[in-house]
Formats: sequence, structure tokens, C-alpha cells
Amino acid sequence: PAPHSDAFVLFGATGDLAFKQIFPALYAMVRRNALSVPVIGVAFDPWDVEKLRARARESAVKAYGDAFDESVFARFSDLLGYVSGDYRSPETFAKLKAALGQASRPLHYLAIPPSLFETVAEGLQQSGCAANARLMVEKPFGHDEASAKELNAVLHRFFDESAIFRIDHYVGKEAIQNLLYFRFANAFLEPVWNRNFVESIQITMAENFGVQGRGKFYDEVGTIRDVIQNHLVNVLILLAMEPPAGRLEDDLIEEKVKIFKAIRTLTPQDVVRGQFVGYRDEPGVAPNSTVETFAAVRMFVDSWRWADVPFYIRAGKNLPVRCTEVVVRFRKPPHDVFAERLQGPSNELRFRINPQITIGLGSRIKAPGENLVGEPVELVAVDDGTGDLAPYERLIGDAMEGDNALFTRQDAAEIAWRIFDPVIGNIVPVTPYQPGTWGPLTMAGFEPPFGWVDPTV
Ligand code: BG6
Repeated sequence: PAPHSDAFVLFGATGDLAFKQIFPALYAMVRRNALSVPVIGVAFDPWDVEKLRARARESAVKAYGDAFDESVFARFSDLLGYVSGDYRSPETFAKLKAALGQASRPLHYLAIPPSLFETVAEGLQQSGCAANARLMVEKPFGHDEASAKELNAVLHRFFDESAIFRIDHYVGKEAIQNLLYFRFANAFLEPVWNRNFVESIQITMAENFGVQGRGKFYDEVGTIRDVIQNHLVNVLILLAMEPPAGRLEDDLIEEKVKIFKAIRTLTPQDVVRGQFVGYRDEPGVAPNSTVETFAAVRMFVDSWRWADVPFYIRAGKNLPVRCTEVVVRFRKPPHDVFAERLQGPSNELRFRINPQITIGLGSRIKAPGENLVGEPVELVAVDDGTGDLAPYERLIGDAMEGDNALFTRQDAAEIAWRIFDPVIGNIVPVTPYQPGTWGPLTMAGFEPPFGWVDPTV
């Protein structure tokens, strides 16, 4: 097995991501006795380690509320160190090197804007902090295919591909792990999991809130880049991939990349874009912005298994509910034995990812009474979320062990842009929609057969 990282270095330690996700994840790792190496925060702010400790404590209190445990935090706090400085200055990296002490295989986490990746990677190399090190990087990973390739080339000057961990937190979710498990741990799915039985697949990621003070960030990305090109395409990949032939650890990435390659490049006819009314008044948003806060796309996987089966994805801000779910719609029974002349489908597999894991099989049963007339029921399994590992906790742990199975490999990161490049920007006009609705009405004519399933929560 690969050697375990012997220090965790967090660039951007005073920032938002560190506060919201990374400190709570590190605290949880300490609680499980899964983290006992030095954790060194790095940032420009002239803080000292006490200030970082206070910030980390506040973050863990906020994340765990009543379950926050002072003795766990004390152990976490003992691991913390802080280096302040400008990323362009060699002195910052000399201080980091000193703070690393005996540690010789650090994991560096870049929770910083991508425009700084090169500066930091170079500083790490010149100071000797990159030797035997791993590098974990956050999205956005480029903004199109060309910039993603450029970024990869830059990182490869300092780090080997096997040492780079491109994180997509969605993949680390318990529900997404469950989707992978459910597909390949159950034999009954395989015979029907193909174009002969599946008519269409839809994925909905609805959020019932707006851009929450992230207007400036959001106005540079929009929905397609923010969540579809990465999170939701990764969900599609798990639905569409072939069963790995060997061991999952060895073949998962390979199988995923095969599907990435088979996804057809989008055309403007495959895309609908919407913007909620009021978005242009958000702080940080351009008053004439044409950035989408809602998008729906239709995708095809050109493989033997999925030829001509449409995969619909829609995602948006300020929709009626917060919910992410997949609906796999099966073809109708070949002959209408009971002469019911049903309009909708008879069977659907529903896989809810958010707010809780739910797997439901939509079926028909006979309604009580004299006649052979049916009604729909859903056979449901629910996981209430107790015991779930948070995505950042799972993924930081994996990266520290050198296990890259859940991370995005270079080729996948580039192909994901190839698919979306022709429809990014203002190519498809953006249509306004009222907050609290399911997006622009022009989606009529751009719908899965029998329509979208609106989750009720
Ligand atoms: C982030 C996006 O990557 O994912 C956000 O930037 C989005 O806009 C978030 O709200 C959703 O993730 P989760 O885990 O909160 O469902």
C-alpha cells in the first residue's frame, strides 16, 4: 500500500471553504482516531496559531452543535500550526518547510483560487516541500477545455499525476457511494439496465435558495459549470458505467473514463438556460448578467448499452424544494394485457441523493375490488443519514492514504469540458423565471417522455 501522508497543509486556511467544510472534516477524523499528523494552515492573513485554533473551534462548534466535544477538539487543536505569508514569497515556503519539521510526505490542500495554483505549486517545489508530497485541488478546474489542459500541464511540472487529487465533493457523498454499491451489488438490475428496458433517465438537483452572498463567484460560473459539468455528470457516469471487470479499486477510474469518452458533445439544441428574477440585483452580479441560475441539458452516451437513451439533467437555484434525485424510467410492458391504456410509465427506479438517501421502485399493483385495474405504488427504502461520513472527511482520508479512486483523473477533467464547451456562455439565450418555480416555461418541448418528475419533499 502507498505510504500515508505524514502532514496536512491547508492553503487558504482562513477562508470560507476551510471554515465550512475542511475544519469540520478534520475534527471528525480526529474523533474517529483517523488523524494524528500535524495540520498546518497557510494564508496571507497575519494570524497566529491561536487565532487559527479559535477559528477551527468556531467552525466545529457550528458544524456539530450539541455533539461538539471539547476533548476531541483539544486533540485536534494540538495538531494545528500556522504559517502566514504571501504565496509569491520564497520566505513563506521556507517557513512552511520549517513548520513541517520531520514530516517528509505532506498532503497539500489548495483551498485557494485556481489563479494561484501555479504560484503555490512552484513555491512548494522550490522550497523542497513538493518532494514525496500529494496535492489536493478544488474546483473550478479550469473554465473550458483549453484552460483545464493548461492547468494540468502546469501542475504536472511540479507533481506526478498519481500525486494529484482533484476533488469533486459530490462523489464523496454517502448517497453517491450507495448508488455505486446498489448498482453492482444487486444482480436483478443488470438484465434491465440498458436501452432495451430503460426509456430515459432524469437527474434533478433543485435548491430552494439563491446564490447566498456568492454572487461574484456565481456570476463567473453559472449552473452548468458550477454543478452540472462536474457533480451531476459524475452521477450520470455511475449510472451509465459498465461493471468493473477486476477489483473495483483498480478499474473504477478506467471504467468511468470510458463513459466520459462516450458522452456526446452537446449542441445548443440540447440546452435550456434560465435566470431567476432578482438575480441581477444580487451583490457581485452584473446588472445585465446573462449567466444562468438554472439549466437543463439532454445528453447521450454513445455506447452499446445506452444508444439513443436520453439522459436529462436539470439543476437550479431558487426552485421550489431542495432535493437531488435520479429517476430511471422503464419502458412500458410490451402488451397492454389489462387494457388500461396508461398514459404514463409503469415502472420507475427513483434514487434520491438529497436530503436523505431513498431508493424507490415505482410499480403497479391491483387496486382492491372486482376488476383487474391497477394503481401505482412505490416500494421504498430510506436511510436516515445516521452514521454517514461527510464527503470531505471521506475524501481527505482517501487522499492521505494515496487512494485516488474517487478523484477526477486528468483525462476525465479535460473531457468533462469537451462535452460542455460548445454550450457554455451566452450561446443559448437565458430565459427569466420566477423564484419558487421549476424554471423557464420554454422547457415545454424539452422534456423527458412523460415529463419531469418534480420531487416532493
Ligand atoms: C457546490 C456548488 O459545489 O455544490 C454550490 O458550488 C452548490 O452552488 C453545492 O450549492 C451543492 O452541494 P451540496 O453538497 O450542498 O448539495
